[in-house]
Amino acid sequence: MITKLLNWLRMPRRKNRGVEALRKKIDPARLPVHVAIIMDGNGRWAARRGLPRSAGHRAGVESLRETVELCCELGIKYLTVYAFSTENWKRPAEEVNTLMNLLVEYLERELPRLQEQGVRLHPIGRLEDLPPHAREALAKAVAVTAANDRLILNLAINYGGRDEITRAARRIARDVCQGRVKIEEIDEQLVASYLDTAGQPDPDLLIRSSGEQRMSNFLLWQSAYTEFWLTPVFWPDFRRQHLLEAIVAYQQRQRRFGGLGNNQTEKN
Ligand code: FPP
Repeated sequence: MITKLLNWLRMPRRKNRGVEALRKKIDPARLPVHVAIIMDGNGRWAARRGLPRSAGHRAGVESLRETVELCCELGIKYLTVYAFSTENWKRPAEEVNTLMNLLVEYLERELPRLQEQGVRLHPIGRLEDLPPHAREALAKAVAVTAANDRLILNLAINYGGRDEITRAARRIARDVCQGRVKIEEIDEQLVASYLDTAGQPDPDLLIRSSGEQRMSNFLLWQSAYTEFWLTPVFWPDFRRQHLLEAIVAYQQRQRRFGGLGNNQTEKN
């Protein structure tokens, strides 16, 4: 009994030691500048505990909070998280409402902390279709955090990669019709400048939790050369240790962007 108690008391310290060891493995000079995350597995996390899906989403907020905090500490400049897709409207109205209410709650409760940490909130997606209370909370958080530049937090909400590209194509077509853009000027750079992530670097690292291996309509244009890191861990269980593991794995990859890499004549 006493041994059990002692082991339990020691547990968090051991866990911290693991996190510290991972942190030491990270080369601060080669951090991913932009990390993107598909926060998946909230529903399954809840089901395994006999809880409603909303409990999984609620627990997922804590993982998001911890992830934002660690990104700030490490010096990651852009974090994009997939909070609600253009396809998520197909879910029962009750779950959609829960997610919208959680968004408002997260923004209201976290705003002082985001501000303190120097986080600038940048929502991406078709924001005009969100319910008014969600739009208002987003607009307030955007205004309050507008001058921050330590971490840009792209909150993808009512976001879909195909929808984003379609909206960009429409705006380009409009600008061509109105003489602001010439057809010959349309290149990859110009298209990128019409996306919701205009002016930002493409994600270097994309993390997906819960063991799924799909893009699910996330950052389709931007992730052309993004490194993927997949984990079976459900999002509500995603802790600092997992983000650190992802970064360590990322730093072991050789990125070639379709070329042959540094000092190489043969592809390996
Ligand atoms: C996918 O898991 C997750 C979502 C659709 C919502 C993500 C939301 C959060 C992490 C909460 C934080 C959100 C806000 C708005 C700040 P799933 O429900 O599809 O899980 P499942 O695949 O196990 O069913």
